[in-house]
Amino acid sequence: MKRLGVNIDHIATVRNARGENHPDPYHAALQVVKMGADSVTIHLREDRRHINDLDAKKICKLKKVLVNLEISMNDKIIKNALKIKPNYICIVPENRKEVTTEGGLNLVKNKKKLSKIIERFKKVKIRTSLFINPTLKDIKLSKELNVDCVEIHTGKISNLVKLKKKFHNELDRIKKCSIFAKKLNIEVHAGHGLDYKTTKILSKVKEIEEFNIGHFIIGESIFIGLSSVIKKFKKIIKN
Ligand code: PXP
Repeated sequence: MKRLGVNIDHIATVRNARGENHPDPYHAALQVVKMGADSVTIHLREDRRHINDLDAKKICKLKKVLVNLEISMNDKIIKNALKIKPNYICIVPENRKEVTTEGGLNLVKNKKKLSKIIERFKKVKIRTSLFINPTLKDIKLSKELNVDCVEIHTGKISNLVKLKKKFHNELDRIKKCSIFAKKLNIEVHAGHGLDYKTTKILSKVKEIEEFNIGHFIIGESIFIGLSSVIKKFKKIIKN
């Protein structure tokens, strides 16, 4: 059964627009799970543009919520993550000026550093994932890094589908990578830029076990409500 992780960063974006306390991401974390999400994803960015330290600390303390914390390779952030103990970690590239995570990690350049980081999280039994581009080379490197999961960056296929362009080559790449990863005993996740249509397309890739979706869920909830959006996604990924 495929799982749905709901990224609630943009609840914090809306809150921060007013500099007050509403809407509260802590409350959102509890609510999305009640509404059917399997886990909650938060990204504690180095620039703290949405989720802040207190949000992350409080959300990671929730007993009934499985929390997937996205972090960069920044040492201070890693130390903090080890302190607040999320259930899961996803390591992502981070660049100060980007609007959102624009691509997967550079595994070749960061192999040594990543190996040490993964080891630290493995020691405390936190499931760890690497956010990667769909290439067989990166799957092979992920195996060498002994990581539990990979999250495949789905930004490219999402853009192609939204622009009504040919997306089958990219879908093929994602399929091949998912099959290869599964064969190597790496759990496969997918995320970035997903909406109903792209999630439906990718839900046919049976090796993908988890989808992490944020911006579209929060945006669409303005029109039909968070609970209805989550239910729609759960139905899509079940098929
Ligand atoms: N997965 C990862 C690793 C991400 O960095 C992001 C964006 O923060 C997402 C999933 C969610 O992307 P989106 O908000 O476009 O659904």
